[in-house]
Amino acid sequence: MNARDSADPPTSVVAADTVAEPVGVVQAERDISLEVNGKSVSGEVEVRTSLADYLRGAGYFGVRVGCEQGVCGACTVLLDGRPVRSCLVLAVQADRRAVRTVEGLASDASQSDLQLAFSQERALQCGFCTPGFLMLSVALLRDHPSATDDDVLEAVSSDICRCTGYHGIVRAICRVRDERAAVDEGSSARGGEQRA
Ligand code: FES
Ligand code: FES
Repeated sequence: MNARDSADPPTSVVAADTVAEPVGVVQAERDISLEVNGKSVSGEVEVRTSLADYLRGAGYFGVRVGCEQGVCGACTVLLDGRPVRSCLVLAVQADRRAVRTVEGLASDASQSDLQLAFSQERALQCGFCTPGFLMLSVALLRDHPSATDDDVLEAVSSDICRCTGYHGIVRAICRVRDERAAVDEGSSARGGEQRA
Protein backbone atom coordinates (compact mmCIF):
# COMPACT_ATOMS: atom_id res chain seq x y z
CA MET A 1 0.00 0.00 0.00
CA ASN A 2 1.23 3.44 -0.91
CA ALA A 3 1.56 6.08 1.86
CA ARG A 4 -1.06 8.29 0.17
CA ASP A 5 -3.66 5.54 0.57
CA SER A 6 -3.10 5.20 4.31
CA ALA A 7 -5.51 6.86 6.74
CA ASP A 8 -2.64 7.52 9.14
CA PRO A 9 -0.64 10.70 8.52
CA PRO A 10 2.94 10.17 7.44
CA THR A 11 5.13 9.94 10.51
CA SER A 12 7.21 12.96 9.42
CA VAL A 13 4.21 15.32 9.59
CA VAL A 14 3.65 16.78 13.06
CA ALA A 15 1.20 19.49 14.04
CA ALA A 16 2.95 22.88 14.00
CA ASP A 17 2.21 23.65 17.65
CA THR A 18 3.92 20.47 18.78
CA VAL A 19 7.25 21.29 17.08
CA ALA A 20 9.94 21.94 19.66
CA GLU A 21 11.95 25.19 19.39
CA PRO A 22 15.02 24.29 17.31
CA VAL A 23 18.16 24.32 19.38
CA GLY A 24 20.43 27.31 18.70
CA VAL A 25 17.77 29.61 17.22
CA VAL A 26 18.49 33.23 18.16
CA GLN A 27 15.72 34.89 20.16
CA ALA A 28 14.18 37.86 18.37
CA GLU A 29 13.91 39.84 21.61
CA ARG A 30 15.88 40.03 24.81
CA ASP A 31 15.54 41.77 28.12
CA ILE A 32 18.38 44.13 28.76
CA SER A 33 19.27 46.44 31.58
CA LEU A 34 21.86 49.17 31.36
CA GLU A 35 22.86 52.29 33.20
CA VAL A 36 22.42 55.49 31.24
CA ASN A 37 23.87 58.64 32.81
CA GLY A 38 23.69 56.94 36.20
CA LYS A 39 20.07 55.81 35.87
CA SER A 40 18.90 52.28 35.28
CA VAL A 41 17.14 51.71 31.96
CA SER A 42 15.71 48.31 31.14
CA GLY A 43 13.25 46.61 28.86
CA GLU A 44 12.77 44.17 26.02
CA VAL A 45 14.59 44.91 22.81
CA GLU A 46 14.82 43.30 19.40
CA VAL A 47 18.27 41.82 19.13
CA ARG A 48 18.96 43.69 15.89
CA THR A 49 18.25 47.12 17.44
CA SER A 50 21.24 49.43 17.48
CA LEU A 51 22.26 51.11 20.72
CA ALA A 52 21.61 54.48 19.03
CA ASP A 53 18.00 53.57 18.23
CA TYR A 54 17.48 52.06 21.66
CA LEU A 55 18.74 55.18 23.42
CA ARG A 56 16.62 57.48 21.26
CA GLY A 57 13.61 55.25 21.92
CA ALA A 58 14.30 55.68 25.64
CA GLY A 59 14.22 59.48 25.23
CA TYR A 60 17.92 60.26 24.82
CA PHE A 61 17.46 62.36 21.69
CA GLY A 62 20.91 63.90 22.08
CA VAL A 63 22.14 60.73 20.41
CA ARG A 64 22.05 61.79 16.77
CA VAL A 65 21.79 59.35 13.91
CA GLY A 66 23.43 60.56 10.73
CA CYS A 67 25.07 58.03 8.45
CA GLU A 68 24.26 54.84 10.42
CA GLN A 69 27.49 53.43 9.01
CA GLY A 70 30.03 54.42 11.62
CA VAL A 71 31.41 57.28 9.54
CA CYS A 72 30.05 60.61 10.81
CA GLY A 73 30.42 60.17 14.60
CA ALA A 74 27.17 62.01 15.39
CA CYS A 75 25.96 59.03 17.43
CA THR A 76 29.06 58.85 19.67
CA VAL A 77 28.37 57.92 23.30
CA LEU A 78 30.63 56.59 26.04
CA LEU A 79 30.23 52.87 26.73
CA ASP A 80 31.99 51.98 29.97
CA GLY A 81 33.90 55.23 29.48
CA ARG A 82 35.05 54.53 25.93
CA PRO A 83 33.71 56.49 22.98
CA VAL A 84 31.78 54.25 20.59
CA ARG A 85 29.64 54.83 17.53
CA SER A 86 26.33 53.72 18.88
CA CYS A 87 24.93 53.02 15.40
CA LEU A 88 27.46 50.20 15.15
CA VAL A 89 26.80 48.72 18.59
CA LEU A 90 23.77 46.54 19.26
CA ALA A 91 21.69 47.47 22.26
CA VAL A 92 22.11 43.91 23.58
CA GLN A 93 25.88 44.45 23.61
CA ALA A 94 25.35 47.25 26.12
CA ASP A 95 23.49 44.97 28.52
CA ARG A 96 24.73 45.45 32.11
CA ARG A 97 27.11 48.20 31.04
CA ALA A 98 27.26 51.95 31.63
CA VAL A 99 26.42 54.44 28.91
CA ARG A 100 26.94 58.18 29.01
CA THR A 101 25.20 60.45 26.56
CA VAL A 102 25.35 64.20 26.06
CA GLU A 103 22.35 64.54 28.41
CA GLY A 104 24.66 63.36 31.20
CA LEU A 105 27.18 66.18 30.76
CA ALA A 106 25.34 69.05 32.38
CA SER A 107 24.83 68.96 36.11
CA ASP A 108 21.49 70.35 37.26
CA ALA A 109 20.98 73.48 35.20
CA SER A 110 24.62 74.25 34.49
CA GLN A 111 26.46 73.26 31.37
CA SER A 112 29.75 71.41 31.54
CA ASP A 113 32.90 73.36 30.73
CA LEU A 114 33.02 71.73 27.29
CA GLN A 115 29.44 72.66 26.48
CA LEU A 116 30.10 76.22 27.58
CA ALA A 117 33.29 76.44 25.53
CA PHE A 118 31.51 75.13 22.41
CA SER A 119 29.06 77.96 22.75
CA GLN A 120 31.70 80.60 23.58
CA GLU A 121 33.91 79.59 20.66
CA ARG A 122 30.96 79.31 18.25
CA ALA A 123 31.76 75.68 17.61
CA LEU A 124 28.30 74.90 16.31
CA GLN A 125 25.64 76.15 13.97
CA CYS A 126 22.89 73.58 13.36
CA GLY A 127 24.21 71.52 16.30
CA PHE A 128 23.47 68.16 14.72
CA CYS A 129 27.04 66.92 15.12
CA THR A 130 27.68 68.61 18.47
CA PRO A 131 26.72 65.78 20.88
CA GLY A 132 29.11 63.45 19.09
CA PHE A 133 31.97 65.97 19.23
CA LEU A 134 31.28 66.66 22.90
CA MET A 135 31.37 62.99 23.89
CA LEU A 136 34.54 62.49 21.88
CA SER A 137 36.09 65.52 23.64
CA VAL A 138 35.15 64.23 27.09
CA ALA A 139 37.17 61.07 26.49
CA LEU A 140 39.99 62.92 24.72
CA LEU A 141 40.66 65.39 27.54
CA ARG A 142 40.22 62.73 30.22
CA ASP A 143 42.78 60.43 28.59
CA HIS A 144 45.05 63.15 27.16
CA PRO A 145 44.76 66.25 29.34
CA SER A 146 47.89 67.71 27.72
CA ALA A 147 46.88 66.98 24.12
CA THR A 148 48.49 69.43 21.71
CA ASP A 149 46.43 71.50 19.28
CA ASP A 150 47.46 69.08 16.54
CA ASP A 151 46.39 66.10 18.66
CA VAL A 152 42.99 67.73 19.13
CA LEU A 153 42.68 68.45 15.42
CA GLU A 154 43.56 64.89 14.58
CA ALA A 155 41.09 63.50 17.14
CA VAL A 156 38.15 65.57 15.89
CA SER A 157 38.92 64.74 12.28
CA SER A 158 37.26 61.38 12.96
CA ASP A 159 33.85 63.10 13.11
CA ILE A 160 32.03 65.03 10.41
CA CYS A 161 30.67 68.55 10.77
CA ARG A 162 28.98 69.76 7.63
CA CYS A 163 28.23 73.37 8.50
CA THR A 164 30.52 74.92 11.11
CA GLY A 165 33.98 73.74 10.20
CA TYR A 166 36.58 72.59 12.65
CA HIS A 167 38.33 75.75 13.84
CA GLY A 168 35.75 76.61 16.49
CA ILE A 169 35.55 73.01 17.67
CA VAL A 170 39.33 72.78 18.09
CA ARG A 171 39.44 76.19 19.83
CA ALA A 172 36.72 75.09 22.26
CA ILE A 173 38.47 71.87 23.23
CA CYS A 174 41.85 73.61 23.58
CA ARG A 175 40.25 76.32 25.69
CA VAL A 176 38.94 73.72 28.15
CA ARG A 177 42.29 71.93 28.16
CA ASP A 178 44.00 75.23 29.09
CA GLU A 179 41.40 76.22 31.68
CA ARG A 180 41.66 72.83 33.40
CA ALA A 181 45.46 73.03 33.37
CA ALA A 182 45.31 76.50 34.93
CA VAL A 183 42.99 75.23 37.67
CA ASP A 184 45.32 72.29 38.34
CA GLU A 185 48.33 74.59 38.48
CA GLY A 186 46.53 76.94 40.87
CA SER A 187 45.63 74.05 43.18
CA SER A 188 49.20 72.72 43.20
CA ALA A 189 50.57 76.20 43.89
CA ARG A 190 48.13 76.70 46.77
CA GLY A 191 49.06 73.25 48.13
CA GLY A 192 52.76 74.22 47.93
CA GLU A 193 52.16 77.51 49.76
CA GLN A 194 50.25 75.76 52.50
CA ARG A 195 53.02 73.21 52.90
CA ALA A 196 55.75 75.93 52.85
S1 FES B 1 25.31 57.75 12.74
FE1 FES B 1 26.78 56.56 13.76
S2 FES B 1 28.67 57.16 12.88
FE2 FES B 1 27.16 58.25 11.71
S1 FES C 1 27.18 72.19 13.48
FE1 FES C 1 25.95 71.60 11.78
S2 FES C 1 26.86 69.73 11.18
FE2 FES C 1 28.17 70.43 12.70
